[in-house]
Amino acid sequence: MSTPAASPLSRPARLPIDDRSPAARRVSLARPGPRPTDPPVLPVGVLADIALGLARATELWQPHVSHDPLSRTSVRLVATESYEVWLLGWTQGQRVEFHDHGGSNAAFAVLEGELQEITLGVAGTTSKRLTSGRVGTVAAGTVHDVINPTAVVATSLHVYSNPLRTMTYYDGQGRPTYTELVEQVPALVTSPTQARALHPSRARA
Ligand SMILES: [Fe+2]
Repeated sequence: MSTPAASPLSRPARLPIDDRSPAARRVSLARPGPRPTDPPVLPVGVLADIALGLARATELWQPHVSHDPLSRTSVRLVATESYEVWLLGWTQGQRVEFHDHGGSNAAFAVLEGELQEITLGVAGTTSKRLTSGRVGTVAAGTVHDVINPTAVVATSLHVYSNPLRTMTYYDGQGRPTYTELVEQVPALVTSPTQARALHPSRARA
C-alpha cells in the first residue's frame, strides 16, 4: 500500500533513545495497529477521575516517589487490561520532548510541585502550567511535551488507556522523528480486583 521509504517513521532513529519515555527500550519502524482483543479505550474524563482518585491514595504512591537529576524517574503503579498508571519524578528542566501516545488516551495529575504542558497544534503551540492538585487530559492523537520548569522537584501520576504501546516523537515543526515501542514492565498492582478497588468511582459506590 504505501511506500515505507517515503514515510518519516521509516527513517533510522537519529537520536539516542535513553530516557525518552518511562519504559522505552527499542525503536520501532512502524506503529502497530489496535489488536482485535483490545478493550475499548476509556474516555479522558474517566482517566482524569482515576488520576485524581489515585492522587488521594497517598499510601499507594508516596513510598515510591523519587527524583534523580540525571533522568526522570518512573514506576509503573497499576496495570490492567484497559488502563495503566505511572508515577513520574521530575527535577528542574527535565522534559519528555514532543510526543504522542499512539492510540491511547491519557490524563495526568500533578502530585507535588508544578509541571508545564506544551501542546503542538496546527496553529502553533499552547502552554499551560499545572500545579499540585491539577489534572490534565490528553486525547489520543495529541502531540505535547511536559517539563518541570521550576527549581522545585515535581511528582505526577499518569493514566493511559489502553496501556501505552507506542510513543512517536516529533520535532518543533510537528514532523515525526521516530517511534518507540513501550515495553510492558511489571506493575506494583496487577490484580483486577485491587485495581477496581482503587478506582475512585468504586470508592464512592
Ligand atoms: Fe505525554
